[in-house]
Amino acid sequence: MLEQELAIAQRDLEKNGWLDIEVDPTLDLVAEINRLKKEKNAIILAHYYQESEIQDIADYIGDSLGLSQKAAKTEADIIVFAGVHFMAETAKMLSPQKKVLLPDLKAGCSLADSCPPALFRKFKEKYPDHVVVSYINCTAELKTLTDVCCTSSNAVQIINSIPEDKPIIFAPDKNLGAYLKKKTGRDMILWNGTCMVHEIFSQEKITKLRQRHPDAKFIAHPECEAAILEQADYIGSTSGLLKYTKENPAQEFIVATEVGIIHQMQKASPLKTFIPAPPNNLCACNECPHMKRNTMEKLYLCMEFEQPEIILEDWIIEQGRASIDRMLEVSEQAGLKLAD
Ligand code: 13P
Ligand code: SF4
Repeated sequence: MLEQELAIAQRDLEKNGWLDIEVDPTLDLVAEINRLKKEKNAIILAHYYQESEIQDIADYIGDSLGLSQKAAKTEADIIVFAGVHFMAETAKMLSPQKKVLLPDLKAGCSLADSCPPALFRKFKEKYPDHVVVSYINCTAELKTLTDVCCTSSNAVQIINSIPEDKPIIFAPDKNLGAYLKKKTGRDMILWNGTCMVHEIFSQEKITKLRQRHPDAKFIAHPECEAAILEQADYIGSTSGLLKYTKENPAQEFIVATEVGIIHQMQKASPLKTFIPAPPNNLCACNECPHMKRNTMEKLYLCMEFEQPEIILEDWIIEQGRASIDRMLEVSEQAGLKLAD
């Protein structure tokens, strides 16, 4: 039965994005995943936006910079990426000899989707002398058109590493780009992309929430719109936000990023209160639908059957990798070490 089911699931993998096989509901998924990790010398790398159970079983949880640093250094044979497609692609580019698995291939990213390489190539032709800095939230192919990547943890250092007489194109996030223009004083040409999660925070609801919680610190990710960032007591990457909540004496925090990060904030500071910043829809918090495509069942299936796997063409790895290597080099020079 399982063999037949597996054959059908493999045939439909491209359509579904994951191995659609029924998992026995009585199976202890935590035990099974831990067994597979050992048996296969696999490492699970998870982003802070993953569901709590996945974060709890991961070998390393981090932001985009930490995850790529870990992917570059791991000695595991298999990297299981509990995150989104561009993150798993980055891991594959950094460790091409390893098998990189993503529980659901359809876990995409609105920022990566907003910048199709063919359109970007044409756009870039209009600015021939410019250095291209791309936020790591872009496709592997876009990285082949990029001089240096950045994440929200190292973006300021990356921009500052570019000689002042060199004009810059920044893609694909216009909000992060606008924030960086302000922060570094560099004038940059911005691609018009946004993150679907960070662009929908409601300024009005946040103002009301702050009135009800006057002692709460308001903290935001730089993918948010300028009007939200202007109100923030602190702006930072997911790991920056987490660190701030650990170190700041405040007891209440209103958090403007994907709600998954609150799991680690609450674990690190169990006596503090974390309130997700409200979006401009009927939901109470913002979830990334791509990040949340990964589930414990899909994680188990992908480790058991070693599918879906990230496969990249050699030319993409060869031409795209330099932009990530350059980013890691600048990060190391700037002392941005891997978090624990
Ligand atoms: P960081 O975790 O690097 O801050 O990135 C946030 C994000 O949106 C990842 O998709
Ligand atoms: Fe992309 Fe935004 Fe989701 Fe991050 S939170 S994966 S930037 S859509």
